[in-house]
Amino acid sequence: MGLLSGKTALITGAARGIGKAIAVKFAQEGANIAFTDLVIDENGQATEKEIEAYGVKCKGYASNAADFAQSEEVVKQVKEEFGAIDILINNAGITKDGLMLRMTEAQWDAVIGVNLKSAFNFIHACVPVMMRQRGGSIINMASVVGVHGNAGQANYAASKAGMIALAKSVAQEMGPKGIRANAIAPGFIDTAMTQQLSEDIRKEWTSKIPLRRGGTTEDIANTALFLASDLSSYVSGQVIQVDGGMNM
Ligand SMILES: NC(=O)c1ccc[n+]([C@@H]2O[C@H](COP(=O)([O-])OP(=O)(O)OC[C@H]3O[C@@H](n4cnc5c(N)ncnc54)[C@H](O)[C@@H]3O)[C@@H](O)[C@H]2O)c1
Repeated sequence: MGLLSGKTALITGAARGIGKAIAVKFAQEGANIAFTDLVIDENGQATEKEIEAYGVKCKGYASNAADFAQSEEVVKQVKEEFGAIDILINNAGITKDGLMLRMTEAQWDAVIGVNLKSAFNFIHACVPVMMRQRGGSIINMASVVGVHGNAGQANYAASKAGMIALAKSVAQEMGPKGIRANAIAPGFIDTAMTQQLSEDIRKEWTSKIPLRRGGTTEDIANTALFLASDLSSYVSGQVIQVDGGMNM
């Protein structure tokens, strides 16, 4: 029996990276997996197959998480096709970095839309389902910069701070219904998102981390497993920094 046997998890932006690692980890623990991404191409189809190999149901849905109507439609389809939604992971995210003086309105709107509004869209659609089930676990993928800020990332940091406050507010509203909401704040994790950075910047970041390494997607997936499962049944409204001790 896995820690998530018989549960259904919905994970946004999970065709690759951290979202995919969470999907695989949850499938290993017995959860059925519904995931979204902008497109479900060969990559997404390979993810579906990889997950089904663990003997669970898996389906990828092509949708833009920043779009309210599309998100509602995905949640409706997942409910129909899987019968339940026990775990929601708001993971889809992008960066469009720039210093404040040079940041465009388009950069601001895109990042707030994909990183923050998407979480509102999915929580809004999933909460009625979880209320009828009398329970659920919601996890928002934030970032250490949502706690501490970061020069050159005002849009991204603000969106991630919003994800934290959103999780805390939902935890307060929905606790009486048995629904928990928490946030994970990853530090420097080795994915396509951080591979965009130069070697020098990557070295500089690593030198500031007490554990002297970047995190792996599995480091984040293990934390998500804790927050999604009954191991954390009395944990709600929290932010867990998974950053090798970079910020204390
Ligand atoms: N990598 C890190 O160091 C790091 C650190 C802190 C937080 N995070 C957060 O973790 C999450 C995952 O990041 P990652 O490193 O795996 O990034 P990634 O770029 O590898 O994966 C993000 C996924 O989201 C999808 N996506 C983008 N826009 C979307 C949209 N509008 N609708 C649906 N899907 C969309 C992408 O196609 C991609 O598959 C993000 O929220 C990111 O901000 C990452």
